[in-house]
Amino acid sequence: MTRVGMIPESSKIATPYQTTQQTKMMEQDEQTANVTPSQLAEKLCKSFLDVRSRTLPPDIVDVADEREVAAMRALAIPSTQGRPMRETIEDMLRIMSHRVAMEHPRFFGFIPSPVHESSLLGHVITTMFNVHAGSWFESSGPSAVEDVMIKWLAQQAGLPDTAGGVFVSGGSMANLTAIVAARDAKLSFEQRAKAVFYVSEQTHCSVQKGLGIAGFHASQTRHVECDHSFRMKVSSLRKAIAADRDAGLVPFLIVATCGLTNTGSIDPLDELAGVAEAEDLWLHVDGAYGGSVILSNQHKHLAQGVARAHSLSWDAHKWLFQTYGCGVLIVRDSRHLIQSFTTNASYIQDAEEASSAHVNFWNRGIELTRPARAMKLWFTLQTLGLDKLGEFIDHGIQLAEAAEQAFRKLENWKIVTPAQLGIFNFSYVAWSINLDGEREVSESLSERVNVEASKRAISRNIAAPLTTRLHGKLNLRMCTISPNLGTDQLLEVVHALDSLATEIMAEMG
Ligand SMILES: Cc1ncc(COP(=O)(O)O)c(C=O)c1O
Repeated sequence: MTRVGMIPESSKIATPYQTTQQTKMMEQDEQTANVTPSQLAEKLCKSFLDVRSRTLPPDIVDVADEREVAAMRALAIPSTQGRPMRETIEDMLRIMSHRVAMEHPRFFGFIPSPVHESSLLGHVITTMFNVHAGSWFESSGPSAVEDVMIKWLAQQAGLPDTAGGVFVSGGSMANLTAIVAARDAKLSFEQRAKAVFYVSEQTHCSVQKGLGIAGFHASQTRHVECDHSFRMKVSSLRKAIAADRDAGLVPFLIVATCGLTNTGSIDPLDELAGVAEAEDLWLHVDGAYGGSVILSNQHKHLAQGVARAHSLSWDAHKWLFQTYGCGVLIVRDSRHLIQSFTTNASYIQDAEEASSAHVNFWNRGIELTRPARAMKLWFTLQTLGLDKLGEFIDHGIQLAEAAEQAFRKLENWKIVTPAQLGIFNFSYVAWSINLDGEREVSESLSERVNVEASKRAISRNIAAPLTTRLHGKLNLRMCTISPNLGTDQLLEVVHALDSLATEIMAEMG
Protein backbone atom coordinates (compact mmCIF):
# COMPACT_ATOMS: atom_id res chain seq x y z
CA MET A 1 0.00 0.00 0.00
CA THR A 2 1.24 3.48 -0.78
CA ARG A 3 0.83 6.07 1.91
CA VAL A 4 0.14 9.71 1.10
CA GLY A 5 3.43 11.57 0.73
CA MET A 6 5.40 8.54 -0.49
CA ILE A 7 6.27 8.46 -4.14
CA PRO A 8 5.89 4.91 -5.41
CA GLU A 9 8.57 3.37 -7.63
CA SER A 10 5.88 2.76 -10.21
CA SER A 11 5.51 6.51 -10.74
CA LYS A 12 8.66 6.37 -12.84
CA ILE A 13 6.79 4.20 -15.31
CA ALA A 14 4.40 5.96 -17.65
CA THR A 15 0.87 5.76 -16.25
CA PRO A 16 -1.99 5.54 -18.70
CA TYR A 17 -2.38 9.31 -18.26
CA GLN A 18 1.17 10.25 -19.16
CA THR A 19 1.97 11.08 -22.72
CA THR A 20 5.23 9.90 -24.27
CA GLN A 21 6.47 13.48 -24.15
CA GLN A 22 5.85 13.69 -20.42
CA THR A 23 7.80 10.46 -19.85
CA LYS A 24 10.71 11.75 -21.94
CA MET A 25 10.71 15.03 -20.05
CA MET A 26 10.77 13.13 -16.75
CA GLU A 27 13.78 11.13 -17.89
CA GLN A 28 15.63 14.26 -19.02
CA ASP A 29 15.02 15.85 -15.68
CA GLU A 30 16.50 13.00 -13.60
CA GLN A 31 19.30 15.41 -12.67
CA THR A 32 16.78 17.63 -10.95
CA ALA A 33 15.77 14.78 -8.63
CA ASN A 34 17.33 16.42 -5.58
CA VAL A 35 15.72 19.76 -6.20
CA THR A 36 12.69 20.50 -4.01
CA PRO A 37 9.28 21.03 -5.61
CA SER A 38 9.29 24.68 -4.55
CA GLN A 39 12.69 25.23 -6.21
CA LEU A 40 11.39 23.55 -9.33
CA ALA A 41 8.25 25.65 -9.24
CA GLU A 42 10.38 28.78 -8.95
CA LYS A 43 12.33 27.63 -11.97
CA LEU A 44 9.08 27.03 -13.78
CA CYS A 45 7.99 30.57 -12.89
CA LYS A 46 11.20 32.01 -14.32
CA SER A 47 10.98 30.09 -17.55
CA PHE A 48 7.25 30.86 -17.78
CA LEU A 49 8.01 34.59 -17.60
CA ASP A 50 10.81 34.16 -20.13
CA VAL A 51 8.51 32.41 -22.60
CA ARG A 52 5.84 34.99 -21.99
CA SER A 53 8.13 37.91 -22.70
CA ARG A 54 9.15 36.26 -25.98
CA THR A 55 5.58 35.68 -27.04
CA LEU A 56 4.16 39.11 -26.28
CA PRO A 57 2.41 40.19 -29.46
CA PRO A 58 3.93 43.00 -31.55
CA ASP A 59 0.47 44.48 -32.15
CA ILE A 60 -1.83 45.85 -29.48
CA VAL A 61 -4.83 44.66 -31.49
CA ASP A 62 -4.60 41.65 -33.78
CA VAL A 63 -7.91 40.58 -35.30
CA ALA A 64 -7.41 37.61 -37.63
CA ASP A 65 -8.22 38.25 -41.29
CA GLU A 66 -10.42 35.88 -43.32
CA ARG A 67 -7.52 33.70 -44.46
CA GLU A 68 -6.17 33.38 -40.92
CA VAL A 69 -9.62 32.66 -39.53
CA ALA A 70 -9.99 29.80 -42.02
CA ALA A 71 -6.64 28.43 -40.81
CA MET A 72 -7.69 28.74 -37.15
CA ARG A 73 -10.97 26.94 -37.88
CA ALA A 74 -9.08 24.12 -39.57
CA LEU A 75 -6.78 23.85 -36.54
CA ALA A 76 -9.79 23.52 -34.24
CA ILE A 77 -10.68 20.01 -35.45
CA PRO A 78 -9.54 17.41 -32.86
CA SER A 79 -6.73 15.03 -33.71
CA THR A 80 -7.71 11.37 -33.82
CA GLN A 81 -4.33 9.86 -32.98
CA GLY A 82 -2.77 12.68 -30.97
CA ARG A 83 0.03 14.94 -32.20
CA PRO A 84 3.52 15.84 -31.00
CA MET A 85 3.43 18.36 -28.20
CA ARG A 86 5.90 20.79 -29.77
CA GLU A 87 3.92 21.03 -32.99
CA THR A 88 0.72 21.54 -31.01
CA ILE A 89 2.33 24.28 -28.92
CA GLU A 90 3.40 26.02 -32.11
CA ASP A 91 -0.21 26.00 -33.29
CA MET A 92 -1.36 27.24 -29.93
CA LEU A 93 1.03 30.21 -30.04
CA ARG A 94 -0.24 30.98 -33.53
CA ILE A 95 -3.87 30.87 -32.38
CA MET A 96 -3.15 33.03 -29.34
CA SER A 97 -1.39 35.68 -31.41
CA HIS A 98 -4.76 36.78 -32.78
CA ARG A 99 -6.05 38.67 -29.81
CA VAL A 100 -6.19 42.07 -28.22
CA ALA A 101 -3.29 42.41 -25.82
CA MET A 102 -5.57 43.59 -23.02
CA GLU A 103 -2.53 43.96 -20.76
CA HIS A 104 -0.71 46.27 -23.19
CA PRO A 105 0.06 49.61 -21.49
CA ARG A 106 -1.36 51.45 -24.50
CA PHE A 107 -4.60 49.50 -24.68
CA PHE A 108 -7.16 51.92 -23.27
CA GLY A 109 -10.46 50.33 -24.36
CA PHE A 110 -13.18 48.72 -22.23
CA ILE A 111 -11.53 47.91 -18.90
CA PRO A 112 -8.00 46.83 -19.80
CA SER A 113 -6.35 43.96 -17.97
CA PRO A 114 -2.93 45.14 -16.84
CA VAL A 115 -2.27 41.78 -15.29
CA HIS A 116 0.68 41.58 -12.92
CA GLU A 117 3.16 38.75 -13.41
CA SER A 118 2.57 37.58 -9.84
CA SER A 119 -1.02 36.81 -10.76
CA LEU A 120 0.04 34.83 -13.84
CA LEU A 121 2.36 32.81 -11.67
CA GLY A 122 -0.20 32.38 -8.91
CA HIS A 123 -2.61 31.18 -11.58
CA VAL A 124 -0.12 28.68 -13.02
CA ILE A 125 0.81 27.27 -9.63
CA THR A 126 -2.86 26.99 -8.62
CA THR A 127 -3.60 25.16 -11.86
CA MET A 128 -0.88 22.66 -11.01
CA PHE A 129 -3.12 21.37 -8.19
CA ASN A 130 -6.53 21.61 -9.89
CA VAL A 131 -8.21 22.22 -6.54
CA HIS A 132 -11.96 21.66 -6.17
CA ALA A 133 -12.75 24.67 -3.99
CA GLY A 134 -16.42 23.84 -3.51
CA SER A 135 -16.12 22.38 -0.03
CA TRP A 136 -13.89 22.57 3.02
CA PHE A 137 -13.33 18.79 2.83
CA GLU A 138 -11.89 19.09 -0.68
CA SER A 139 -9.90 22.30 -0.16
CA SER A 140 -9.47 23.23 3.48
CA GLY A 141 -6.17 25.02 2.70
CA PRO A 142 -7.34 27.23 -0.19
CA SER A 143 -10.81 27.63 1.37
CA ALA A 144 -9.29 28.96 4.61
CA VAL A 145 -7.29 31.48 2.58
CA GLU A 146 -10.34 32.45 0.50
CA ASP A 147 -12.46 32.91 3.64
CA VAL A 148 -9.91 35.15 5.34
CA MET A 149 -9.24 37.12 2.17
CA ILE A 150 -12.93 37.86 1.73
CA LYS A 151 -13.20 38.95 5.35
CA TRP A 152 -10.12 41.11 4.92
CA LEU A 153 -11.48 42.73 1.73
CA ALA A 154 -14.79 43.33 3.54
CA GLN A 155 -12.92 44.97 6.39
CA GLN A 156 -11.07 47.25 3.96
CA ALA A 157 -14.46 48.26 2.57
CA GLY A 158 -15.62 49.04 6.10
CA LEU A 159 -18.17 46.24 6.22
CA PRO A 160 -18.94 44.60 9.58
CA ASP A 161 -17.68 41.25 10.94
CA THR A 162 -20.88 39.56 9.79
CA ALA A 163 -19.72 40.03 6.19
CA GLY A 164 -18.80 37.09 4.02
CA GLY A 165 -18.77 36.25 0.38
CA VAL A 166 -17.46 34.18 -2.44
CA PHE A 167 -14.95 34.47 -5.25
CA VAL A 168 -16.70 34.25 -8.61
CA SER A 169 -15.71 34.45 -12.27
CA GLY A 170 -16.23 38.21 -12.53
CA GLY A 171 -18.54 41.18 -12.18
CA SER A 172 -21.48 39.68 -14.06
CA MET A 173 -21.56 36.64 -11.78
CA ALA A 174 -21.07 38.79 -8.68
CA ASN A 175 -23.97 41.03 -9.68
CA LEU A 176 -26.21 38.06 -10.46
CA THR A 177 -25.35 36.38 -7.15
CA ALA A 178 -26.12 39.61 -5.26
CA ILE A 179 -29.45 40.03 -7.06
CA VAL A 180 -30.52 36.51 -6.10
CA ALA A 181 -29.51 37.09 -2.47
CA ALA A 182 -31.37 40.43 -2.40
CA ARG A 183 -34.47 38.87 -4.00
CA ASP A 184 -34.59 36.07 -1.44
CA ALA A 185 -33.89 38.38 1.50
CA LYS A 186 -36.43 41.03 0.60
CA LEU A 187 -39.29 39.35 -1.28
CA SER A 188 -41.72 36.54 -0.67
CA PHE A 189 -42.30 34.34 -3.69
CA GLU A 190 -45.72 35.95 -4.21
CA GLN A 191 -44.22 39.45 -4.21
CA ARG A 192 -41.80 38.79 -7.07
CA ALA A 193 -44.29 39.76 -9.79
CA LYS A 194 -44.85 43.15 -8.16
CA ALA A 195 -41.23 43.84 -7.33
CA VAL A 196 -39.37 46.85 -8.74
CA PHE A 197 -35.71 47.86 -8.57
CA TYR A 198 -33.69 50.94 -9.27
CA VAL A 199 -30.62 51.27 -11.44
CA SER A 200 -29.23 54.38 -13.10
CA GLU A 201 -29.17 55.22 -16.81
CA GLN A 202 -25.53 54.17 -16.76
CA THR A 203 -25.64 50.96 -14.70
CA HIS A 204 -23.60 48.16 -16.29
CA CYS A 205 -25.58 45.90 -18.63
CA SER A 206 -24.67 42.81 -16.56
CA VAL A 207 -27.13 44.02 -13.89
CA GLN A 208 -30.07 43.92 -16.29
CA LYS A 209 -28.91 40.54 -17.51
CA GLY A 210 -28.73 39.29 -13.91
CA LEU A 211 -32.21 40.60 -13.13
CA GLY A 212 -33.55 38.71 -16.15
CA ILE A 213 -31.82 35.50 -15.08
CA ALA A 214 -33.23 35.98 -11.56
CA GLY A 215 -36.72 35.87 -13.06
CA PHE A 216 -37.62 39.54 -13.43
CA HIS A 217 -39.04 41.32 -16.46
CA ALA A 218 -37.37 44.36 -18.00
CA SER A 219 -40.49 46.41 -17.18
CA GLN A 220 -39.71 45.96 -13.47
CA THR A 221 -36.53 48.05 -13.84
CA ARG A 222 -36.56 51.77 -13.11
CA HIS A 223 -33.75 53.63 -14.86
CA VAL A 224 -33.18 56.58 -12.56
CA GLU A 225 -31.79 59.66 -14.29
CA CYS A 226 -28.25 60.86 -13.64
CA ASP A 227 -26.87 64.30 -12.87
CA HIS A 228 -24.35 66.01 -15.17
CA SER A 229 -21.58 63.84 -13.67
CA PHE A 230 -23.46 60.63 -14.51
CA ARG A 231 -24.26 59.96 -10.85
CA MET A 232 -27.68 58.64 -9.92
CA LYS A 233 -29.98 61.53 -8.91
CA VAL A 234 -31.13 60.82 -5.39
CA SER A 235 -34.18 63.11 -5.62
CA SER A 236 -35.36 61.25 -8.73
CA LEU A 237 -34.82 57.93 -6.99
CA ARG A 238 -36.93 59.02 -4.03
CA LYS A 239 -39.73 60.15 -6.35
CA ALA A 240 -39.63 56.88 -8.30
CA ILE A 241 -39.86 54.81 -5.11
CA ALA A 242 -42.80 56.85 -3.83
CA ALA A 243 -44.63 56.54 -7.16
CA ASP A 244 -44.09 52.79 -7.22
CA ARG A 245 -45.35 52.35 -3.66
CA ASP A 246 -48.45 54.44 -4.52
CA ALA A 247 -49.04 52.11 -7.46
CA GLY A 248 -49.00 49.09 -5.11
CA LEU A 249 -45.63 47.83 -6.33
CA VAL A 250 -42.87 46.43 -4.09
CA PRO A 251 -39.51 48.28 -4.32
CA PHE A 252 -36.72 46.04 -3.01
CA LEU A 253 -33.34 46.83 -4.54
CA ILE A 254 -31.14 49.80 -5.46
CA VAL A 255 -28.07 49.10 -7.58
CA ALA A 256 -25.43 51.80 -7.20
CA THR A 257 -22.08 51.87 -8.99
CA CYS A 258 -18.64 52.62 -7.65
CA GLY A 259 -16.77 53.32 -10.88
CA LEU A 260 -19.02 53.49 -13.94
CA THR A 261 -17.50 51.69 -16.89
CA ASN A 262 -18.15 54.61 -19.23
CA THR A 263 -17.02 57.50 -17.05
CA GLY A 264 -15.52 56.21 -13.79
CA SER A 265 -18.23 58.11 -11.86
CA ILE A 266 -19.21 57.00 -8.39
CA ASP A 267 -22.86 57.21 -7.42
CA PRO A 268 -23.57 59.15 -4.18
CA LEU A 269 -23.18 56.02 -2.10
CA ASP A 270 -23.81 57.57 1.31
CA GLU A 271 -27.02 59.24 0.21
CA LEU A 272 -28.21 56.11 -1.57
CA ALA A 273 -27.50 54.11 1.57
CA GLY A 274 -29.66 56.64 3.47
CA VAL A 275 -32.54 56.03 1.02
CA ALA A 276 -32.09 52.26 1.22
CA GLU A 277 -32.18 52.37 5.03
CA ALA A 278 -35.19 54.67 5.17
CA GLU A 279 -37.11 52.58 2.61
CA ASP A 280 -35.90 49.17 3.83
CA LEU A 281 -34.37 48.30 0.45
CA TRP A 282 -31.25 46.26 -0.36
CA LEU A 283 -28.36 48.41 -1.59
CA HIS A 284 -26.02 46.61 -3.95
CA VAL A 285 -22.87 48.44 -5.00
CA ASP A 286 -21.38 47.35 -8.29
CA GLY A 287 -17.72 48.04 -7.64
CA ALA A 288 -16.57 45.55 -10.26
CA TYR A 289 -14.28 48.21 -11.66
CA GLY A 290 -13.96 50.99 -9.08
CA GLY A 291 -14.11 48.91 -5.90
CA SER A 292 -10.33 48.68 -6.07
CA VAL A 293 -10.06 52.35 -5.09
CA ILE A 294 -10.61 51.01 -1.57
CA LEU A 295 -7.02 49.71 -1.69
CA SER A 296 -5.50 52.88 -3.15
CA ASN A 297 -3.11 54.82 -0.95
CA GLN A 298 -4.44 58.28 -1.78
CA HIS A 299 -8.03 57.95 -2.97
CA LYS A 300 -9.73 55.51 -0.57
CA HIS A 301 -12.11 58.23 0.57
CA LEU A 302 -13.82 58.19 -2.83
CA ALA A 303 -15.50 54.92 -1.86
CA GLN A 304 -17.05 56.55 1.20
CA GLY A 305 -20.48 55.01 1.79
CA VAL A 306 -19.62 51.58 0.41
CA ALA A 307 -19.48 50.42 4.03
CA ARG A 308 -23.25 50.83 4.23
CA ALA A 309 -23.99 48.52 1.29
CA HIS A 310 -25.75 45.18 1.67
CA SER A 311 -23.55 43.73 -1.05
CA LEU A 312 -20.53 44.70 -3.09
CA SER A 313 -19.15 43.33 -6.38
CA TRP A 314 -15.41 43.79 -6.73
CA ASP A 315 -13.38 42.40 -9.61
CA ALA A 316 -9.78 41.49 -8.97
CA HIS A 317 -9.33 40.81 -12.70
CA LYS A 318 -9.96 44.46 -13.46
CA TRP A 319 -8.01 46.75 -11.17
CA LEU A 320 -6.23 44.36 -8.81
CA PHE A 321 -4.09 43.19 -11.71
CA GLN A 322 -5.32 39.58 -11.75
CA THR A 323 -5.78 37.13 -14.60
CA TYR A 324 -9.33 36.61 -15.78
CA GLY A 325 -11.90 34.72 -13.81
CA CYS A 326 -11.31 36.52 -10.53
CA GLY A 327 -14.15 38.54 -9.04
CA VAL A 328 -15.53 38.76 -5.53
CA LEU A 329 -19.00 39.21 -4.14
CA ILE A 330 -19.16 40.38 -0.54
CA VAL A 331 -22.42 40.57 1.38
CA ARG A 332 -22.91 42.48 4.60
CA ASP A 333 -24.42 39.44 6.31
CA SER A 334 -23.08 36.16 4.99
CA ARG A 335 -26.23 34.35 6.10
CA HIS A 336 -28.00 35.79 3.08
CA LEU A 337 -25.77 33.81 0.76
CA ILE A 338 -26.25 30.66 2.82
CA GLN A 339 -30.04 31.13 2.67
CA SER A 340 -30.07 31.47 -1.11
CA PHE A 341 -27.41 29.03 -2.15
CA THR A 342 -27.17 26.15 0.34
CA THR A 343 -27.09 22.96 -1.63
CA ASN A 344 -27.57 19.34 -0.78
CA ALA A 345 -27.25 15.94 -2.41
CA SER A 346 -26.68 12.51 -0.91
CA TYR A 347 -23.38 12.06 -2.72
CA ILE A 348 -21.88 15.20 -1.14
CA GLN A 349 -23.08 14.47 2.42
CA ASP A 350 -19.57 13.53 3.63
CA ALA A 351 -18.47 17.08 2.85
CA GLU A 352 -21.23 18.93 4.71
CA GLU A 353 -20.17 22.06 6.64
CA ALA A 354 -19.21 20.84 10.09
CA SER A 355 -18.78 24.30 11.61
CA SER A 356 -19.25 27.90 10.58
CA ALA A 357 -15.47 28.29 10.40
CA HIS A 358 -15.29 25.53 7.80
CA VAL A 359 -16.88 27.21 4.83
CA ASN A 360 -18.27 25.23 1.94
CA PHE A 361 -18.15 27.80 -0.82
CA TRP A 362 -20.68 25.83 -2.84
CA ASN A 363 -23.13 27.10 -0.19
CA ARG A 364 -22.19 30.73 -0.91
CA GLY A 365 -22.83 30.95 -4.64
CA ILE A 366 -24.06 29.37 -7.83
CA GLU A 367 -21.22 26.95 -8.60
CA LEU A 368 -20.65 23.54 -7.05
CA THR A 369 -17.31 22.72 -8.65
CA ARG A 370 -15.19 25.85 -8.68
CA PRO A 371 -11.49 26.68 -8.93
CA ALA A 372 -9.48 28.20 -6.09
CA ARG A 373 -9.73 31.74 -7.50
CA ALA A 374 -8.46 33.52 -4.41
CA MET A 375 -5.01 31.91 -4.52
CA LYS A 376 -3.59 34.04 -7.32
CA LEU A 377 -4.73 37.23 -5.62
CA TRP A 378 -3.19 35.91 -2.41
CA PHE A 379 0.07 35.31 -4.32
CA THR A 380 0.04 38.89 -5.60
CA LEU A 381 -0.72 40.38 -2.20
CA GLN A 382 2.07 38.32 -0.63
CA THR A 383 4.79 38.97 -3.20
CA LEU A 384 3.92 42.47 -4.36
CA GLY A 385 2.62 43.82 -1.07
CA LEU A 386 -0.20 46.23 -0.35
CA ASP A 387 1.84 49.45 -0.59
CA LYS A 388 2.89 48.74 -4.17
CA LEU A 389 -0.62 47.65 -5.12
CA GLY A 390 -1.98 50.92 -3.72
CA GLU A 391 0.66 52.86 -5.67
CA PHE A 392 -0.34 51.09 -8.88
CA ILE A 393 -3.96 52.12 -8.39
CA ASP A 394 -2.99 55.73 -7.63
CA HIS A 395 -0.79 55.77 -10.73
CA GLY A 396 -3.75 54.85 -12.98
CA ILE A 397 -5.80 57.67 -11.50
CA GLN A 398 -2.98 60.16 -12.00
CA LEU A 399 -2.39 59.08 -15.61
CA ALA A 400 -5.95 59.88 -16.66
CA GLU A 401 -5.71 63.27 -14.94
CA ALA A 402 -2.47 64.07 -16.78
CA ALA A 403 -3.95 63.11 -20.16
CA GLU A 404 -7.08 65.13 -19.47
CA GLN A 405 -4.95 68.20 -18.72
CA ALA A 406 -2.93 67.67 -21.90
CA PHE A 407 -6.07 67.52 -24.08
CA ARG A 408 -7.41 70.66 -22.41
CA LYS A 409 -4.36 72.53 -23.69
CA LEU A 410 -4.88 71.42 -27.29
CA GLU A 411 -7.00 73.33 -29.75
CA ASN A 412 -10.09 71.53 -31.10
CA TRP A 413 -10.30 68.95 -28.33
CA LYS A 414 -12.91 68.96 -25.61
CA ILE A 415 -13.18 66.98 -22.42
CA VAL A 416 -16.54 65.25 -22.33
CA THR A 417 -16.13 63.83 -18.82
CA PRO A 418 -13.15 64.65 -16.61
CA ALA A 419 -10.79 62.00 -15.30
CA GLN A 420 -12.41 59.89 -12.62
CA LEU A 421 -10.91 56.65 -11.32
CA GLY A 422 -8.57 56.38 -14.30
CA ILE A 423 -11.23 56.96 -16.99
CA PHE A 424 -11.96 60.04 -19.08
CA ASN A 425 -13.92 60.88 -22.23
CA PHE A 426 -12.79 63.35 -24.86
CA SER A 427 -13.63 64.37 -28.36
CA TYR A 428 -12.11 66.08 -31.35
CA VAL A 429 -14.38 68.94 -32.31
CA ALA A 430 -14.62 69.46 -36.06
CA TRP A 431 -15.93 72.68 -37.51
CA SER A 432 -17.68 73.22 -40.83
CA ILE A 433 -19.11 76.22 -42.70
CA ASN A 434 -22.93 76.40 -42.79
CA LEU A 435 -25.13 77.77 -45.59
CA ASP A 436 -24.85 81.28 -44.14
CA GLY A 437 -21.07 81.03 -44.39
CA GLU A 438 -20.69 80.78 -40.61
CA ARG A 439 -18.34 78.44 -38.81
CA GLU A 440 -20.16 75.86 -36.64
CA VAL A 441 -19.43 72.59 -34.89
CA SER A 442 -20.30 69.64 -37.10
CA GLU A 443 -21.44 66.67 -35.02
CA SER A 444 -21.29 64.27 -37.96
CA LEU A 445 -17.80 65.38 -39.00
CA SER A 446 -16.59 65.23 -35.39
CA GLU A 447 -17.89 61.66 -35.11
CA ARG A 448 -16.09 60.62 -38.27
CA VAL A 449 -12.82 62.15 -37.12
CA ASN A 450 -13.01 60.50 -33.69
CA VAL A 451 -13.83 57.08 -35.14
CA GLU A 452 -11.08 57.36 -37.74
CA ALA A 453 -8.53 58.60 -35.18
CA SER A 454 -9.21 55.50 -33.06
CA LYS A 455 -8.91 53.21 -36.10
CA ARG A 456 -5.66 54.76 -37.30
CA ALA A 457 -4.12 54.76 -33.84
CA ILE A 458 -4.84 51.02 -33.72
CA SER A 459 -3.76 50.16 -37.25
CA ARG A 460 -0.46 52.05 -36.76
CA ASN A 461 -0.01 50.39 -33.38
CA ILE A 462 0.27 53.74 -31.63
CA ALA A 463 -2.38 52.99 -29.04
CA ALA A 464 -5.90 51.64 -28.71
CA PRO A 465 -8.35 54.22 -27.44
CA LEU A 466 -11.92 53.13 -28.33
CA THR A 467 -15.16 55.06 -28.70
CA THR A 468 -18.34 55.17 -26.63
CA ARG A 469 -21.53 57.21 -26.56
CA LEU A 470 -22.68 59.54 -23.82
CA HIS A 471 -26.10 61.20 -24.14
CA GLY A 472 -26.19 59.68 -27.62
CA LYS A 473 -23.04 61.45 -28.80
CA LEU A 474 -19.94 59.55 -29.82
CA ASN A 475 -16.59 60.34 -28.24
CA LEU A 476 -13.24 58.76 -27.50
CA ARG A 477 -12.65 57.15 -24.11
CA MET A 478 -9.52 56.04 -22.31
CA CYS A 479 -9.09 53.83 -19.25
CA THR A 480 -5.47 54.36 -18.21
CA ILE A 481 -4.80 51.83 -15.46
CA SER A 482 -1.55 50.22 -16.55
CA PRO A 483 1.25 50.51 -13.98
CA ASN A 484 3.65 49.93 -16.89
CA LEU A 485 2.77 53.18 -18.64
CA GLY A 486 4.71 56.32 -17.79
CA THR A 487 3.14 59.77 -17.88
CA ASP A 488 5.49 60.85 -20.69
CA GLN A 489 4.52 57.86 -22.80
CA LEU A 490 0.87 58.69 -22.29
CA LEU A 491 1.44 62.31 -23.28
CA GLU A 492 3.09 61.07 -26.48
CA VAL A 493 -0.12 59.19 -27.24
CA VAL A 494 -2.14 62.37 -26.65
CA HIS A 495 0.00 64.26 -29.16
CA ALA A 496 -0.09 61.38 -31.63
CA LEU A 497 -3.90 61.44 -31.51
CA ASP A 498 -3.86 65.17 -32.13
CA SER A 499 -1.63 64.68 -35.19
CA LEU A 500 -3.90 61.93 -36.47
CA ALA A 501 -6.97 64.16 -36.13
CA THR A 502 -5.19 66.96 -38.01
CA GLU A 503 -4.21 64.51 -40.76
CA ILE A 504 -7.78 63.20 -41.04
CA MET A 505 -9.24 66.70 -41.16
CA ALA A 506 -6.81 67.64 -43.94
CA GLU A 507 -7.89 64.59 -45.96
CA MET A 508 -11.55 65.44 -45.47
CA GLY A 509 -10.90 68.89 -46.84
C1 LIG B 1 -19.08 48.26 -13.52
C2 LIG B 1 -19.04 46.88 -14.11
N1 LIG B 1 -19.85 45.93 -13.63
C3 LIG B 1 -19.84 44.67 -14.11
C4 LIG B 1 -19.02 44.32 -15.15
C5 LIG B 1 -19.03 42.90 -15.66
O1 LIG B 1 -17.88 42.27 -15.24
P1 LIG B 1 -17.34 40.94 -15.95
O2 LIG B 1 -17.01 41.34 -17.35
O3 LIG B 1 -16.17 40.55 -15.14
O4 LIG B 1 -18.44 39.95 -15.91
C6 LIG B 1 -18.17 45.28 -15.71
C7 LIG B 1 -17.29 44.94 -16.85
O5 LIG B 1 -16.58 45.74 -17.37
C8 LIG B 1 -18.16 46.59 -15.17
O6 LIG B 1 -17.35 47.54 -15.65
